[in-house]
Amino acid sequence: MSKAAKVVAALAVADLTERQGRSEHKRLSEEIRHHDALYHDKDAPEISDAEYDRLRQRLKAIEAKFPQLVDPLSPTQQVAPLPSTAFAKVRHARPMLSLDNAFTDEELQGFLDRLRRALERETDLKPEDEIALACEPKIDGLSISLRYEDGEFTVGATRGDGTTGEDVTANLKTIKDIPHTLKGKAPKALDVRGEVYMERHAFQAMNKRQEEAGDKSFANPRNAAAGSLRQLDTTITASRPLRFFAYAWGEAEPRSWKTHTEYLELLRGWGFRVNPLSQLCGTPEEVRAFYRQMAVERPSLPYDIDGVVYKVDRIDWQERLGFVSRAPRWAIAHKFPAEQARTRLNGILIQVGRTGALTPVADLEPVNVGGVMVARASLHNADEIERLDVRAGDMVVVQRAGDVIPQILGFVPEERPKKTAKFDFPTHCPCPLATPVKAEEGGVVRRCSGGLECPFQQVERLRYFVSRNCFDIEGLGGTHIENFFNDGLLKIPGDIFRLPGRVDEIRKREGWGDLSVRNLVAAIEARRTIALDRFINALGIPLIGEATAKILAQEYGDPDSWLAEMLAAARERKHKPDDVKKEKAAVEIGPSYGRLCNVEQIGVTTADAMCAFFSEGHNVEIIEDLRRQLTIEGVTRRVVADDAPLKGKTVVFTGELSTMTREAAKARAEELGAKVTDSVSKKTSLVVVGENAGSKARKAAELGVQTLTEEEWAKLAHG
Ligand code: IVH
Repeated sequence: MSKAAKVVAALAVADLTERQGRSEHKRLSEEIRHHDALYHDKDAPEISDAEYDRLRQRLKAIEAKFPQLVDPLSPTQQVAPLPSTAFAKVRHARPMLSLDNAFTDEELQGFLDRLRRALERETDLKPEDEIALACEPKIDGLSISLRYEDGEFTVGATRGDGTTGEDVTANLKTIKDIPHTLKGKAPKALDVRGEVYMERHAFQAMNKRQEEAGDKSFANPRNAAAGSLRQLDTTITASRPLRFFAYAWGEAEPRSWKTHTEYLELLRGWGFRVNPLSQLCGTPEEVRAFYRQMAVERPSLPYDIDGVVYKVDRIDWQERLGFVSRAPRWAIAHKFPAEQARTRLNGILIQVGRTGALTPVADLEPVNVGGVMVARASLHNADEIERLDVRAGDMVVVQRAGDVIPQILGFVPEERPKKTAKFDFPTHCPCPLATPVKAEEGGVVRRCSGGLECPFQQVERLRYFVSRNCFDIEGLGGTHIENFFNDGLLKIPGDIFRLPGRVDEIRKREGWGDLSVRNLVAAIEARRTIALDRFINALGIPLIGEATAKILAQEYGDPDSWLAEMLAAARERKHKPDDVKKEKAAVEIGPSYGRLCNVEQIGVTTADAMCAFFSEGHNVEIIEDLRRQLTIEGVTRRVVADDAPLKGKTVVFTGELSTMTREAAKARAEELGAKVTDSVSKKTSLVVVGENAGSKARKAAELGVQTLTEEEWAKLAHG
């Protein structure tokens, strides 16, 4: 930094001249961008979050004093990049396709018949010839494409949308099963494709470590593999037990192999792991036997498989068969049915959610269902228990499919013990206050009436507050919140941000050491600056989730306006007559209430839930307490120029577009000043009708709304 710049950097913002402000603005913007890159792309920050926040605050103060310096590229105008955008995009040389599924033997037969018909028609296959199929277990992981140039690993990417994936090369290089250099003679350019996955025992051990450290645990090995690969910090990926099986290719120049089986042999020679269970089957009987064999071996395999894959072995035949809508006609996945097991139902527990809803949960004798131990399963509500008629002591059937939460299918009548009793849904909350439970009008939900006082709800609200889509405070998972709450360290959300001042107390607690306390403090400090939509979501207002929070943040822009408007709406709402159910009429009750009811996708019911929340003094205090401790960042609202060609118009896209994606078309319409919505009404100005459009196109015709073909739209939008 030059001497002059140093002097300017030391001045208070109030004392800066415009010229000094301009140079300081430039310097700070560059510095912030530099630290953004270190933090998000390299995951190697050089300054503390508090220092970083000071830089941003100073920049904001300069912009407040000299509004002419604000430009769209200023760091203050950009929403912090999410980790998902931190990976570079990679376009696959050949698309990464998915597979069609067969669930039944008839569907498998249908596939075999289609193959035979097409090959007899298009090749010299005779009715008496067999079609050899390469059969492989279908690994439940995530597919990856690895680019090799002259035998050297260059770029590795996730599947993404099939056309473009994310560049995770550095992370893939930490996986021992992935060779950096191919052994022997390899094609000049080769994309090796296969599955990254985690073995079950390694997954369980890793989850245990994560839980003990208060970090995120994963629902199943596949999520764990995906989460571990998409880490910005390569050392984290390196510490995770990831494995790789190769089974396909993308581009291959030159390609010397003529069958899939030959290719698998070459893969082995180059140094890849190829699933040893893979087998070439000559007849449909052999194919079926392979499927049965895999179903039998499934529970004892070290990794999850969710079916088997059959591929036509001859590549010239594969090429003849080609693709239909993103899936090859020459391959199919034959899926296994969901895994089931029997076990004893020890009892039915009641969980209290953050809004007081009581959920019955089956307490099961732990049982292995397809490789995962299950001890709990949701019974959803009183009606579901009634429907299943399950009782404590019953032998029940538990099912688990993929990452779906385990489900109770029913009980085994022959094994019902002599004396069982129907479950009595509790009339009082299981919390120490034991407040009465109320059945919700018209609904199946039963709720604790303790509201803000119920300690179980308080804990759940705090848990929600720190969860992934809200404040995302790592290291403050599950049991920590509960323990801190029980010992009085946490009561309301704002207390979380006072924890850094109580490190001595935390350090004395069992299971906490210097390192974990330091990590916790860092995780909390990192969230002192938060985007408005996350903040709104974190408050856990009934009916207001992630999507609604985003819409509200867009509509109101900054925290001050949002709060002022919500308080005003709540005041106005007090005088609302009961019969007002329409958004239009809501305007008469007051401007703020009317505005809220008329925000896209909100409506009177959600607005009322919001107003009810803001009429509770306690809630307002919670928000004020947080505001004193946090920097809540508003969103940059889209400003539409007065002469924008579609200003004031509402546009709906329906059907499939062939020359652009739906997202791109929407973005272009918004750029031109239009509002894009999902449903057609009298208010709609234009409906763009793509291929296979259905009811929306019909509705537009009925209402006499103008429609455009994709081509007409392209002309209008792009000239
Ligand atoms: S072949 C063009 N082989 O299943 C064919 N896929 O449902 C490309 N998978 O995205 C896929 N094991 O992630 C193939 N032995 C195997 C597989 C396999 C698992 C996954 C893969 C793919 C998905 C399709």
